[in-house]
Amino acid sequence: MARIGVFIGSAPLDVSNLESVGEVETPWGNAASPALRHQAGSNELFLLPRHGAQHEYAPHQINYRANIWLMHTLQVDYLVGTYTVGSVDPDLAVGQLVVPHQLIDYTWGRESTYDDVLRHAEFADPYDADLMQKLCDVDAAVYNGGVYGATQGPRLETSAEIVRMARDGCTLVGMTGMPEAALARELALRFAALCLVVNPAAGVGDEQIDLDEMRKIAAVGGQQMLALLERLSV
Ligand code: HPA
Repeated sequence: MARIGVFIGSAPLDVSNLESVGEVETPWGNAASPALRHQAGSNELFLLPRHGAQHEYAPHQINYRANIWLMHTLQVDYLVGTYTVGSVDPDLAVGQLVVPHQLIDYTWGRESTYDDVLRHAEFADPYDADLMQKLCDVDAAVYNGGVYGATQGPRLETSAEIVRMARDGCTLVGMTGMPEAALARELALRFAALCLVVNPAAGVGDEQIDLDEMRKIAAVGGQQMLALLERLSV
């Protein structure tokens, strides 16, 4: 039986009636919530809403260190960050699930290292290759590849920022992918990202970003992501 930690973002999941596990209080402050234990076949999923149970923390306010620490104390075998994202690459349609291979960090001012000791985590390949493949093996419709650009938020980007990100090589944009991945690496957790495209990024589509539409896509996609994780073969 594998223990799989899962960070849940803006795609809501129906996780009612699940047992809370893990200590919210950590040496790095409080995690956003306890984890919720969800038995799915031979997998034991530990779901943690990274924005808090009431979605009270904006991307720049999340205590990423405490959230990752809680997963570390639960001794998960794998850790998956789920994200709703905008598509910088116009070929990635709304509703598409993507497992990116790389990231670029545009965030600033976030607590992004466990600074109890000086750590220089090796991070050339930010995501765990084995876990990325496992996620893609569940469903051939998952797009395997691309680059996640992590922006500071909470505002959305300007069109010019998205043009720059495309030039940099980003195919997706989201606000919470970092420092999550780096902190997971510092604690040697096997970590990968599972993204759901909920809108074309600023200036990529013909239309303005519609927040209500994004929420609707996220609601459906969130269930799809959970179903995929339940079927993860590890
Ligand atoms: N930009 C940043 N974060 C996002 C977006 C976006 O367009 N869509 C969903 N999360």
